[in-house]
Amino acid sequence: MGVFGAWRGQHYAKLFVKQPEIELLAVCDKRRKKLDEIKSFSDCALFEDFDSFLEYGKANGMTAVFLANYFYQHAPYAIKCMEAGMDVISECTAAGTLRECVELCEAVERTGRKYMLAENYQYAPSNLKMNQIVKSGALGTCMYAEGEYNHSGSRKECLDLAPTGQYHWRLWMPRTYYCTHALGPIMFATDSEPLYVSARTAKSDLCFNTMGDCRQNYDGTAILFCEMSNGMIARFTGCTAMASDYTRYRIVGDVASVEVGENIGSERARLFWLSHTKPEDEENKIKIVPAPLSEYGEDGEKAKDAGHAGGDYWVTRHIVDYLLNDADPFFDVYRSVAMSAAAILGWRSCLNHGENFRIPNFRDPADRESVRNDELTPFPDENGNGVTLPISLPRE
Ligand SMILES: NC(=O)c1ccc[n+]([C@@H]2O[C@H](COP(=O)([O-])OP(=O)(O)OC[C@H]3O[C@@H](n4cnc5c(N)ncnc54)[C@H](O)[C@@H]3O)[C@@H](O)[C@H]2O)c1
Repeated sequence: MGVFGAWRGQHYAKLFVKQPEIELLAVCDKRRKKLDEIKSFSDCALFEDFDSFLEYGKANGMTAVFLANYFYQHAPYAIKCMEAGMDVISECTAAGTLRECVELCEAVERTGRKYMLAENYQYAPSNLKMNQIVKSGALGTCMYAEGEYNHSGSRKECLDLAPTGQYHWRLWMPRTYYCTHALGPIMFATDSEPLYVSARTAKSDLCFNTMGDCRQNYDGTAILFCEMSNGMIARFTGCTAMASDYTRYRIVGDVASVEVGENIGSERARLFWLSHTKPEDEENKIKIVPAPLSEYGEDGEKAKDAGHAGGDYWVTRHIVDYLLNDADPFFDVYRSVAMSAAAILGWRSCLNHGENFRIPNFRDPADRESVRNDELTPFPDENGNGVTLPISLPRE
């Protein structure tokens, strides 16, 4: 395994060295400081330049790459890795433009390499329980779902997370773009994906007053509303600055609903029935269901030490299962680009009062044609060039 991007990537590198099936062969980051931190737990090869990293990998049996480089730049590097004969695990988001969504699918099909998104929020303890409850059929027909990912951050946190300065993606990202942590757990639990998206955004005076000089986008939230492939409707956030719980999810059926949240480490879920749908053996209409990691034996114990309430550990185990045993990764390339496309088209919807957009069916080669040349992006390159979309609504 090679790791590209040594900040977030470092967390996975630390997990990889503990897996007997994985050998950490090389890490690449142009920031020497981050690269040097790898030496504290691994003597793998270190590279500042991506092409040298890939060449070394080709010559030394690297069969997979974990991508943790900039948020909106994963697809081009994923394609380079697959062309070099390597499987890819990508941090979110899968692709920064609709054109890249098409190119990523075609690269997987052309090369036959494996591709998986490292979405991790579906593995938070309460989300694992939500997943079990939905899969048991206890909710009846799932009709509606909600997902929230709130990561407000103070000015200090915002600037600390943007170490490369004014053109760092975190200072430019419109609020719909980072939707995978809100949408992913809903898709995972209900085995669905978004078909249509409409979205709206709201400004935050606090964002403007405290970060107006450094963050280009003073919108505080965006809400996306989707028709899902299972007939359900879902509303979810991108990455917001709302003063609400860090994460929060709700799936509502015609028999019961399940709600989880409070914080990512919460170990309980709340079930609700109507009087006429409550099972006879249940005493009350509301039931708090415990969701401890200890339910999962040895893996649950190991997950306790990993980031995102164990989510990063489960992703690591799924990487092994997928690469070695062909286990279904769930977030394959098609589901992954559907999430990226919901975010991309969601932002265009925000720019036009909630206009409804159809998300292309990326499995269908004919359907890809409508967006093949669509390169619109709100993200600048490292010199501040290339932005082709507004990144905020007019303040007034
Ligand atoms: N799933 C999660 O819970 C989670 C948490 C944090 C971050 N992330 C994701 O991880 C990714 C990285 O985020 P981050 O927080 O580490 O911040 P970041 O984007 O600033 O870090 C990216 C790292 O990659 C390096 N890099 C980028 N392009 C490079 C190139 N061409 N050559 C060499 N090095 C290069 C940078 O120097 C930097 O250290 C993002 O996609 C983010 O969304 C996911």
